[in-house]
Amino acid sequence: MERTLAIIKPDAVVARQVGAILQRIEGAGFTVRAMRLVRLSQVEAEGFYAVHRERPFFGSLTAFMSSGPAVVLALEAPDAIRKWRALMGATDPGKADVGTIRCDFGTSIEHNATHGSDAQDTAAFELGYFFAGGELGEDAER
Ligand code: CDP
Ligand code: MG
Repeated sequence: MERTLAIIKPDAVVARQVGAILQRIEGAGFTVRAMRLVRLSQVEAEGFYAVHRERPFFGSLTAFMSSGPAVVLALEAPDAIRKWRALMGATDPGKADVGTIRCDFGTSIEHNATHGSDAQDTAAFELGYFFAGGELGEDAER
């Protein structure tokens, strides 16, 4: 089993696509291990996307990510990191395969509906950015 961090970004939340995207997530066989509606501050968005600090889109991206509520999820499945990125499709919705989430719900390369971790180390960092170990069911009580 593997876990990945997914975000339903503010563009998809404001467009009332949370339910449709959750349906695709569960329909693809992921287990939702944790989920929360968050409103990121600019500083929190900058911390989450720190790896992109030098990129030209960093300011715009972090303003967008802090523009309204987002839904953060811990998804679990075999090969979850690769599988969730495949379900999302390419970063640019205009280049994403038909039937992927970003093709169907994204409206621009920035407003592309969802986020997914890209490797095991980034998944660990990103899951820890939003969820305490106990929230992920890792305490002995569960
Ligand atoms: O999200 P993904 O891993 O597919 O792409 P990324 O290269 O890690 O970029 C992170 C996010 O920055 C993207 O999901 C887009 O929202 C945004 N982005 C952008 O606004 N303009 C670009 N040229 C590339 C990415
Ligand atoms: Mg990325």
